[in-house]
Amino acid sequence: MYTKIVNDVEEAAKYILNSEVVAFPTETVYGLGANVFDDEAVKKIFILKKRPLDNPLIVHISSKKQIGLLAAEIGSTAKKIIKKFFPGPITVILKKNPIVPDRAAAVLDTIAIRMPSSKIAHEFIKACGVPIAAPSANLSGSPSPTSFLHVLHDFNGRVPCVLAGPSSKYGLESTVIDCSASVPAVLRPGMVTLEQLRKLDRRIVLRTHTRKIKSPGQKYKHYSPEAKVVLVKKLSKVVENSAYIGIASLDTNSKTKISFYKVCRDVEHYAKSLFSFFRECDVRGIHTLYAQKVDESGLGLAIMNRLKKAAKE
Ligand code: TXA
Ligand code: MG
Repeated sequence: MYTKIVNDVEEAAKYILNSEVVAFPTETVYGLGANVFDDEAVKKIFILKKRPLDNPLIVHISSKKQIGLLAAEIGSTAKKIIKKFFPGPITVILKKNPIVPDRAAAVLDTIAIRMPSSKIAHEFIKACGVPIAAPSANLSGSPSPTSFLHVLHDFNGRVPCVLAGPSSKYGLESTVIDCSASVPAVLRPGMVTLEQLRKLDRRIVLRTHTRKIKSPGQKYKHYSPEAKVVLVKKLSKVVENSAYIGIASLDTNSKTKISFYKVCRDVEHYAKSLFSFFRECDVRGIHTLYAQKVDESGLGLAIMNRLKKAAKE
C-alpha cells in the first residue's frame, strides 16, 4: 500500500468517509483514527496496531455537542471537567450511549471522550463530520509518536493516509479520568494534573494500578524503547553505549562516556522530549538508557508513570 502524506484536512477526511484509517496530529501525540460509527474501519485500527480487541479506544470530537451522541449520561464532576478543560489534553470516561457500536469501547459499557485543542486536529475532526475513534498511532508496545516521521516509522506502507502537522506540543498522552462510577478516578496521569482536577472535585482518586483492571490499557506493555531503562536520581555509574535524559545536567566526566543525552529545561520540556528520545535511542541501538526521576507532583506524576512502565518497575 502507498501511504499518502497530506497537509489538507479535507483531503484526509475523504479517507475517513471511505472507511479508511488516517493518522493525524494532536497536541498530545499522533492518533490513528477512524469513524467511530464504521465498524469495519475501527476494526482496521486494531489489526494495524496489533492491539488486543479488549483495549478500548478514545473517541475524539470537534464540538461539545457531539458528547450527547456518545455518552448516555454526564455527571456533575464530568460536567465541570468538560467545562474547564475541553478542548485540551484530557479524556473523560462516561457511560456509553447504546447507539455507539461496541467495537471502539471493546468490552465495556463506558466510552472515553476527548476534544483535542490542536488546531489541525480540530479542523480534521470537523471536516470528517463524525467522532473519530483513535488510539496513539504507534505499534502496540512502542512509544507514542510525537511527529509524523514516528508514525511513518511504524506504519509507512500500511496506512493509506498520514495528515502531517507539527510535532506534538505536549508529547505525552492525555490524562484519562473515569467519571462513570461514583468516585471519579484518574487512570492515566497527563498534562492536566491531579492537583488541577482535585480543585474541581476533592474526591478524585489516582488509580493507575488496580487488581480489577479499570483501564484495559494498564495491563499491556507500554512506552518501551528497546534499551534497558534505568531510573536514576543522579547519574553515577554509566555503562558504554548508553544514553541519558533528565533535567539535571551531566558532569563532564559522564558526558564522555555517554553516547547520546538530552538535558531538559523543565518538566514540560522533559515530557515533550521523552518519547522522541526513546525512539532516537532505538535508532542508535542504545543498550542502556538512564532517565532521571522527578518529583511525582504536577506533570512529574505523568512523567514518572511513563518512566516506570518503560523501566518495568
Ligand atoms: O492523548 C491521547 O490520549 C492520545 C491521542 C491520540 O488522543 N490517545 C491515546 O490513546 O493515547 P491510547 O489508545 O493509546 O490510550 C487510551 C487509553 C488506554 O489505556 C485505554 O485502555 C484507555 O485509554 N481507555 C479507553 N477507553 C476506556 C474506557 N472506556 N474505560 C477505561 N479505559 C479506557
Ligand atoms: Mg497508546
